[in-house]
Amino acid sequence: MPEAKILVVDDEKLLRWSLQQNLSKEGYTVISAEKGMEGLGMFKEEPPDITLLDIHLPDVSGITVLQGIKEINKDALVIMITAFGDIQTAVKTIKLGAYDFVEKPFNVDKLKILVAKALETVSLRKEVSQFRSQLSLKYGFDSIIGRSEPIQKIFELIKKITKSDATTIMLQGESGTGKDLAAKVIHYQSRRGDKPFMEINCTALPETLIESELFGHEKGAFTDAKAMKKGLFELADGGSIYLDEIGDMKPSTQAKLLKIIESKMFKRIGGVKDITVDVRIIAATNKNLAEEVKNGNFREDLYYRLKVIPILIPPLRDRPSDIPLMAKYFINEFNREFKKNLKGISKETEKYFEEYQWPGNVRELKNIIERAMILESNEDFILPEHLPIEFTSKEAAFANARGLDIKIPVGGLDIEEVEKELIRQALDITRGNQTKASRLLNITRDALRYRMQKFGFLPEKP
Ligand SMILES: Nc1ncnc2c1ncn2[C@@H]1O[C@H](COP(=O)(O)OP(=O)(O)OP(=O)(O)O)[C@@H](O)[C@H]1O
Ligand SMILES: [Mg+2]
Repeated sequence: MPEAKILVVDDEKLLRWSLQQNLSKEGYTVISAEKGMEGLGMFKEEPPDITLLDIHLPDVSGITVLQGIKEINKDALVIMITAFGDIQTAVKTIKLGAYDFVEKPFNVDKLKILVAKALETVSLRKEVSQFRSQLSLKYGFDSIIGRSEPIQKIFELIKKITKSDATTIMLQGESGTGKDLAAKVIHYQSRRGDKPFMEINCTALPETLIESELFGHEKGAFTDAKAMKKGLFELADGGSIYLDEIGDMKPSTQAKLLKIIESKMFKRIGGVKDITVDVRIIAATNKNLAEEVKNGNFREDLYYRLKVIPILIPPLRDRPSDIPLMAKYFINEFNREFKKNLKGISKETEKYFEEYQWPGNVRELKNIIERAMILESNEDFILPEHLPIEFTSKEAAFANARGLDIKIPVGGLDIEEVEKELIRQALDITRGNQTKASRLLNITRDALRYRMQKFGFLPEKP
């Protein structure tokens, strides 16, 4: 970071001069002040990347200047110049947020290394903040596509949440309905957007690991704990924590989570110190949590704590009007990525899309469009023949149909006749393919053959 600007605040003229010479040679721009208040004024007017600040100044103490600087920018990097042996003051400045300190008289080369290290921190921070602002663009309100009424309502709710300080949100919906997307929009569009978004999948980790991931541990807390580790709650301070698949969280972890939500405090594993954090908890699940509570798998008190603001994302099949719009959106996205120029989906494809049940919801729609655009590239529109077989085959349409609607007539019926009719239909749909027909009926092929024989669909064995 050669174009970096460094502010030196020190009353010793010779020291200012020497620093000016040495640091300029490294390619840095150096500005300097003799007095504390003058230094603070320069900090305000021409914010430097790093400040080298003497503790002993003629007008005010360096500590006062440090506090002033931190009030203007709490992330400012300040290296203190302290008197030899005055460790107590040095430590105090670190507690007040100084990056590091050097004792007078100091070795200029060592100071240069320290400055370079501090500047690395500055540039890393800049990178992170650039990255975050890119994410904030990526997860803008307009990244949620859909004009159906339920999506519009969710959209309005999310807007309200981003402006509020409500700390717990619960997202419920089938797999692929957009829970991750909603969580990220909530985070990146709220005032927490420039702070961390930490996510954890509660299914992926065994119970002991999940606790150490969430709360951190002290050195030696358990056999593998070779060093202190901060948990996600600590790392997410000021930001949000996304607890995915919360329905899979084990009871003992549920109890600890409830305690944090209530007290906003926790201890690292093996630790004694209470740690306070300010995090928004966004929980997500594709289970029916109310049901899980009823079955005793999920704590009722935690359920109600999390459900302060519930967002229920409906499955895609319940909002078919969103499908053409989303299809167009994904086609545009992949056009950009694959450098193609597809115009959309054909009217016929649209029909198949409307009838399909979308077990994988929006994720499935996106994948199907991506696949069609990679494999079948030379058309203007996505046609039915570009779709996976389950969209267009009669067999699939049957398998895809929602439930059976059989009613017993007033005069009763012969169940064997029903069975016979279903077997006849299955063989008809699969054009006599017994393996496929048995799959449609969820019975083994032997069981199908047995029935075929019984109902006279197969020639009698000699
Ligand atoms: N309304 C929407 N607008 C645009 N893209 C969407 C929308 N909903 C979902 N998506 C996209 O669909 C994909 C799946 O969504 P996401 O990962 O958020 O689902 P999920 O509910 O978290 O699923 P799971 O329960 O399996 O984790 C993502 O690529 C996401 O960007
Ligand atoms: Mg998800």
